[in-house]
Amino acid sequence: MHHMRSEAHTGAAIGPEANRGISFPRLYDLLVFILTRGRDKAYREAMLDLAGLAPGFHLLDVGCGTGTQAISAWRRVQPGGSVVGVDVSEKMLAAARRKASRAGLNIAFHHADAAELPFEEGRFDVVTFTTVLHMVPEARRGFCLREAARVLPPGGRLLVIDYAGPAGERRHLSAKHGLHGQFDLHRLREPLAAAGFERIEGGPLNWLGLHYLRGIKS
Ligand SMILES: C[S@@+](CC[C@H](N)C(=O)[O-])C[C@H]1O[C@@H](n2cnc3c(N)ncnc32)[C@H](O)[C@@H]1O
Repeated sequence: MHHMRSEAHTGAAIGPEANRGISFPRLYDLLVFILTRGRDKAYREAMLDLAGLAPGFHLLDVGCGTGTQAISAWRRVQPGGSVVGVDVSEKMLAAARRKASRAGLNIAFHHADAAELPFEEGRFDVVTFTTVLHMVPEARRGFCLREAARVLPPGGRLLVIDYAGPAGERRHLSAKHGLHGQFDLHRLREPLAAAGFERIEGGPLNWLGLHYLRGIKS
């Protein structure tokens, strides 16, 4: 466990204001399958195309859920790279571990809150959040971005995928629903810069009404 960090934490303590995550892994995977009209593999590959992964890279997938994207990413960082996933939900993690072991892949899945990552500084090359930050209470999102910055070295990349845009312009059912509908990814541009990222850019994707935002750790 030499990669786990031992120094005093700089993130947010996991108090009552922290959120819990998702506890229905099978239904979640089914929903993704339905929302992508059975093209969930192509959906994952399209998200990973934005992450700039290459052989030898170390990837952290925050809010990894049932691990589908972490598993797809694994191939892209071989040879020599690694993938680690974290999630607040033990149920999602159990599903992720099952899937990875079925695929014969050595992917570590840890129980952790995005606002307090149990890793040392500069441990990863790329950090991804795919449809996670809309679930995190607004007051804690800055901690999550600062933690992502902390575990990246200068030049490391952050990719955030989530819902965005004016509510009235959202066409996809998924982008309007509940917490998705209330979230606007592009409002994170300033917090991203404040957390230590530069060259911030983003835009809409052709999947589920999602947008992306990415930046480079300065
Ligand atoms: C909508 S799912 C997306 C899962 C996965 N990234 C994917 O693309 O399929 C959101 C995930 O984020 C997790 N999550 C929510 N809040 C979190 C937090 N504060 N820290 C870590 N994970 C969190 C949930 O438990 C859930 O698994």
